[in-house]
Amino acid sequence: MKFFIDTANLAEIREAYDLGILDGVTTNPSLMAKEGITGEANVRAHYKAICEIVDDKVSAEVIATDFEGMIREGKELAKIDDKIVVKIPIIKEGIKAIKYFNSEGIRTNCTLIFSAGQALLAAKAGASYVSPFIGRLDDISFDGMELIAQIVHIYQNYGYQTEVLAASVRHSMHLIKCAEVGADVVTCPLKVITGLLNHPLTTSGLATFLADHAKAAGK
Ligand code: E4P
Repeated sequence: MKFFIDTANLAEIREAYDLGILDGVTTNPSLMAKEGITGEANVRAHYKAICEIVDDKVSAEVIATDFEGMIREGKELAKIDDKIVVKIPIIKEGIKAIKYFNSEGIRTNCTLIFSAGQALLAAKAGASYVSPFIGRLDDISFDGMELIAQIVHIYQNYGYQTEVLAASVRHSMHLIKCAEVGADVVTCPLKVITGLLNHPLTTSGLATFLADHAKAAGK
């Protein structure tokens, strides 16, 4: 399973990259706004800065919601760096844009997926990734993980190449469950990834090892 980090914060991306297990980055307009990045030139420069940190895929979302606007914006984003994946919302115009980008060899990530039907349409249009939002479904008492399993199953039935990129991942159990049901990629904040390290028996076991070593060494 691939690990993407879900942030536009350069320090957090660097820290995740330094761990040596990072496969990519996802951003969205809210995450860019959180970093105070506005204006076309600043946005482009920020995406370039992200691409310079990581080795692989960086999702950059279009703001336009009409076909022509998405194509214009997506082409500009794709020009920034080979690592850019154009992120497009699952709306009618978005499906047309994904189909177009697929024919042009530009990778896409179809976002704001909340149902298996939406994921099916995105795959048929040729999206490279679909981003189903687990946490936001859980928030409204729907089972986000069930959706991931359903999409994985449907894609396996028909051999779709679209990768299931589990998004809106809030905690380490989400990540582990995604691995169990076969999501191709998980995107999450760094603390969710480092949370996988935590186990009380590891903490106490290490403390004992170090104490025994110090005792034997007469410290
Ligand atoms: C990433 O692609 C999504 O935009 C992101 O995971 C959404 O996460 P949130 O529901 O925590 O905002």
